[in-house]
Amino acid sequence: MSKQKNIQSLRGMNDILEKNSELFTYFIDNASRIAKNYGFSYLETPILEETALFKRSVGESSDIVNKEMYQFIDKGENDVCLRPEGTAGVVRSFIQNKFDRAGGTYRWFYYGPMFRYERPQKGRLREFHQFGAEVFGVSSVYEDANIIMMLKDILDFFEIKFKLQLNSLGCTTCMPVYRDNLVKHLTNFREDLCDDCGRRIETNPIRVLDCKNENCQNLLYNAPKITNNLCENCDKDFEKLKEILDFNNIDYEIDSNLVRGLDYYSQTAFEFTSAEIGAQSAIAGGGRYDRLVEFLGGRPTPGIGFAIGIERLLELVKMNESNEDIIYLGALNEESLNTLTKVATDKRTDIKTFIEYTPRSFGKHFKLAQKQSANIVALIGENELRDGTIYTKNLITAEEKTIKLEEF
Ligand code: HAM
Repeated sequence: MSKQKNIQSLRGMNDILEKNSELFTYFIDNASRIAKNYGFSYLETPILEETALFKRSVGESSDIVNKEMYQFIDKGENDVCLRPEGTAGVVRSFIQNKFDRAGGTYRWFYYGPMFRYERPQKGRLREFHQFGAEVFGVSSVYEDANIIMMLKDILDFFEIKFKLQLNSLGCTTCMPVYRDNLVKHLTNFREDLCDDCGRRIETNPIRVLDCKNENCQNLLYNAPKITNNLCENCDKDFEKLKEILDFNNIDYEIDSNLVRGLDYYSQTAFEFTSAEIGAQSAIAGGGRYDRLVEFLGGRPTPGIGFAIGIERLLELVKMNESNEDIIYLGALNEESLNTLTKVATDKRTDIKTFIEYTPRSFGKHFKLAQKQSANIVALIGENELRDGTIYTKNLITAEEKTIKLEEF
């Protein structure tokens, strides 16, 4: 039989293990703790959803739906798709479980894998992970500030330097008027825009605003700005949000070209970026989506949320050196193994314990203990078994002792 090539993970999809998985769980544990302190509860939705859900929420003209979906027909002929983002599934769940009918306020957080068929590069994966939060039932702009503060608290906990960019995308009153004005402006330069933006004039003109093409950006120089064209209500809300952020000493920059890549937003839109991770600098983004619940068939319910890109964030996270004890347990002979399993059961109740089941020499055990980053080595051999004792060495202080098992 000829030797076959080893199977590799798919392009843009990574295993998370060893040091990275330690960082990953460290992040999830602490971000979850902060979210819970803000009154959010955990929810989980399926990774696979009907394709129609994303078409209707993220938007048919968005790059995500247009170019990046992992879409297929399953064995039951259903048109399904690996979720490219979390909000749509959470809103589907909110409606399906009739929370929209019950009324009230709901604050939920989630984390898990998302899938976008993009060209992989630094900070851009095809399978990546998000930590997200969504709030339903609160239209007050104080909630916008609250969610921004929670995100800031998470980033501050991990000592991440960031820039907060803020915009208002208006509402059904002011956005259509603005969009028409923008189209009028852009039509004068149609030939000079990049191919994508040429198309966007018809499909989704406000996406031209955040085109990365330098020429398109230059052509936008004199274009009307949404922040100067908000209706009275949206303008009042935007001013109030800035006031709350100022009051709480949260720095931000207004970026009237920040439109986000998903179609469901209205009013507040924001992005947190880092200058330290290269071109894919957005570490988190979010905004208000007051029409989405209704759009997906629920009772009109305001919503707002954000998602953090975990892989991008972890590039910036340094784990605080842990000084937690790790015990390495080993046997010097086969006969001691049973006793060792009992010792492990006791120790595990409050200390991280690594147990080695192959009897080995003294020296070999110490090498393995180092590999496990243990700071305490505890070994049982023939003598210890006979005397009911255990040999221990503290690798930090170098103190060695043989003590009664009950005292260990
Ligand atoms: P998003 O801006 O598309 O928003 O994604 C949020 C974050 O996910 C980005 O800021 C980025 O850090 C990360 N991300 C996106 N694509 C990739 C990729 N290909 N590779 C690595 N990281 C990536 C949303 O998904 C919205 N659902 C956020 C939201 C929640 N809005 C309201 N509620």
